[in-house]
Amino acid sequence: MEKSIKISASVACADLLNLETDIRLLEEAGVEYLHIDIMDGMFVPNFCLSFDLMKAIKGMTSIPMECHVMVTDPERYVEQVAATGSECLSVHYEATPHIHRALTLIRQSGMKAGVALNPSTPINVLDYILDDLDVVTLMMINPGFTGQKMIPSMLRKLKETREFLDGRGKQDMDIIVDGNVSIENIPKMVGAGATVLVGGSSSVFRKGVSIIESVELVRSLFYFVG
Ligand code: DX5
Ligand code: ZN
Repeated sequence: MEKSIKISASVACADLLNLETDIRLLEEAGVEYLHIDIMDGMFVPNFCLSFDLMKAIKGMTSIPMECHVMVTDPERYVEQVAATGSECLSVHYEATPHIHRALTLIRQSGMKAGVALNPSTPINVLDYILDDLDVVTLMMINPGFTGQKMIPSMLRKLKETREFLDGRGKQDMDIIVDGNVSIENIPKMVGAGATVLVGGSSSVFRKGVSIIESVELVRSLFYFVG
């Protein structure tokens, strides 16, 4: 059965000085999610967005948010993310010694539970927690900054992750790809098994190109899988 491919627009890449305008355009374009990056300056050497901004976004649009926290000990923030109304929370495997406990807390708070993996983290770390998570996010770049180039070996990792999940009965589990999800890379990423594309600076929010046009182009690329 053909899997539906979804777009999660990366708010960190939007025009933050005109965010409501961009979100209305994303609504018109029909993106399925808003990708919200939260950073603590510790797990990654940067800061980005906030829980208060998420609450404001929740109050002005019905596009569901999926939150990607790049913070140490993410268990500390599960309740705060849940309070923003986010549909999903993805925490980094590398950010806590207690990933199972973090996923349990996320589900108990009513959100879908996701694990994000840094580029060098092997996919078999998921083996004993597959029943405790709802989605996997593969970082195609080193987390912390927009506008980076995909690490080439991530396409092989993506393909192997799809095979890993399918081989364990998780054919329906979404794989989110995050980082340099570009016009050039999208066909390869979809062909390798990605089902949710984080549309950022190299696809949905390209300088000088309208969001509507960019989302239409992204959707058209789903069928040219490489
Ligand atoms: C990076 C973030 C990504 C980023 C994507 O740490 O997790 O979501 O915003 O930006 P691009 O699409 O420019 O790589
Ligand atoms: Zn992200």
